[in-house]
Amino acid sequence: MGKEKVLAINSSPNMGKGNTARILNPFLEGMKGAGAEVDLYYLRKLTIKPCIACLKCWTKTPGKCIIRDDMDELLPKIKDADIIVFATPLYWDGVTGLMKMFMDRMTPLGKPYLEIIDGRSRHPVREGYAHGKLVLVSTCGFFEEINFEPMLDHMKAVATNMRREFAGALLRPNAMSIEPAIHFKVPLDDIFEAAESAGRELMEDGKMAKETLATVGREFFPLEQVVEQANRYFKKILDKVESE
Ligand SMILES: Cc1cc2nc3c(=O)[nH]c(=O)nc-3n(C[C@H](O)[C@H](O)[C@H](O)COP(=O)(O)O)c2cc1C
Repeated sequence: MGKEKVLAINSSPNMGKGNTARILNPFLEGMKGAGAEVDLYYLRKLTIKPCIACLKCWTKTPGKCIIRDDMDELLPKIKDADIIVFATPLYWDGVTGLMKMFMDRMTPLGKPYLEIIDGRSRHPVREGYAHGKLVLVSTCGFFEEINFEPMLDHMKAVATNMRREFAGALLRPNAMSIEPAIHFKVPLDDIFEAAESAGRELMEDGKMAKETLATVGREFFPLEQVVEQANRYFKKILDKVESE
């Protein structure tokens, strides 16, 4: 058997320097260590224009979008991937605009017909797409993990639309405290090591252990301290701006 193919899409505008990359990159390393072939794309570097809703990919040119841009390279990768990793910061309680534009442009993988899946109407997917897994990696600014709930529901629905198994999520709340924590030498190594273990577990066991995911999202400052630190930091910046 050949190597398992992983397609990772990072939609953070901060690309490799962002909080999302801090979790995604060790996760991908874990997968590579377990033998996966990993392709990582930063959406910000690509040209992916918005879907114009002509639906010609369903009727006039089935399976092919009329827009010529970097999506031409990505659609075959989506088809081939054993695991697709959607990596995104939480924006307005959902995925980033870049990620949503990419998702809308996945419409050629479907067909216009309807079928009933678990009692709900859905579009069928084209031959060769209905296989493999989908994983979410996300970071957010707020402290509570519950902030990811709307996006989790969305991603589970996307997995069903794509006929992929939703294989879980690496969720890192309070990610804006990572940088200050590193600055103040608060030990966080176990968090990044857990992200790597999650990648290895997914490849070797087909799933990620609950404890591993809990470590990725674990608290490292109490809520009151996070609020106090954030307010102090931003007050300093704004006081300076106002005094200029
Ligand atoms: C436009 C925008 C919207 C955001 N919306 C939310 C939000 O709804 N909830 C939240 O907890 N954090 C929100 N954040 C914070 C980011 O999710 C957080 O800083 C994340 O870790 C950034 O990841 P990155 O460094 O990979 O870009 C938002 C940030 C931006 C720039």
